[in-house]
Amino acid sequence: MARYRRHDVGPRLCYYRPPSASKESTFAEEVSRSLDHTPRSLNPKFFYNRTGSMLFDMICKLPEYYLTRSEISILGRMQESLPEYLPHRYRLVELGSGSAVKTRLILDALDRRQDRLEFFPIDVSDILGKSSLDLLEAYPNLYITGVIDTFESGLEFIGRQDRGPDLFAFLGSSLGNFEPRGAQELLGRVSETMGGRDLFLLGLDMVKDRSILERAYDDSQNVTARFNLNILRRINEELGGDFAVDGFEHHSVFNPEYNRIEMYLRSRRDQSVRIPRSNLSIRLGEGELIHTEYSHKYTMSGISGMMDRAGLDILHTWRDPEFDYRVILAARS
Ligand code: TRP
Repeated sequence: MARYRRHDVGPRLCYYRPPSASKESTFAEEVSRSLDHTPRSLNPKFFYNRTGSMLFDMICKLPEYYLTRSEISILGRMQESLPEYLPHRYRLVELGSGSAVKTRLILDALDRRQDRLEFFPIDVSDILGKSSLDLLEAYPNLYITGVIDTFESGLEFIGRQDRGPDLFAFLGSSLGNFEPRGAQELLGRVSETMGGRDLFLLGLDMVKDRSILERAYDDSQNVTARFNLNILRRINEELGGDFAVDGFEHHSVFNPEYNRIEMYLRSRRDQSVRIPRSNLSIRLGEGELIHTEYSHKYTMSGISGMMDRAGLDILHTWRDPEFDYRVILAARS
């Protein structure tokens, strides 16, 4: 906890963050480490600069990208039934500050039964953006405490606090962006952080027809392609790289062996790239792939196994009947 410093923005908005971790060098170092050898990769957390976050908001509204709409419709319908699972007053702890629309739907459910609302978004960026201010305006009884850090450290911070029962939320099927081992570990962290009265709301996308999945991650307006390619632009801008962005293309494919969408940037030709601030100079062959993201899709038995191993009991599952997407409510076993 000593690592964190508290910053007050207003009477109902504050945030904690570790005293300046040198983000710049981390980006440079990580890019160097992950691009320098094959298989080459870039960590998807670097997608989200200003342009990347804007493109991601656009993805969520694409006709092909059903996940956000499915989840929002589930959260809307949950308004009726969620309160019966909420015997206490809860604070909302959200991993990833996500979209304010979803946060509001959960806050609305809590708002029906308690006069004071507390919201703890945990994210590496963007917590204090306009959406926080909009939330404060929409809910005069809301207090926001942002935790600007990784999920792991943020959870540790939450765990060390004196606190009432918490409703943890991890939406958007973002768990699926972790490798299976990392996903299991993160669930374990959430579970460890939870007290006996705490609850956990987890949104996950299910395995379905391959063409539906592949379209969701390669849309006709090429927004997902721009989102993926934007990471190269960011390296050019922030690390002085000389990626010819038109020398790469978005490639995403469903891998049925692992039930996941795999996203890559594919080199269209033999080319060399220099990234001065990463001290890196590499050659890429035509067709060579840089891995950027996984998006795992789940089966109910897979989810049960994962939850079981994390020490979590599934209390209820809500489902979107049109596209198979689920929101799961769990408690500690
Ligand atoms: N977690 C979401 C998903 O897997 C959002 C997401 C992460 C995403 N990276 C993405 C969506 C890249 C499209 C492209 O769907």
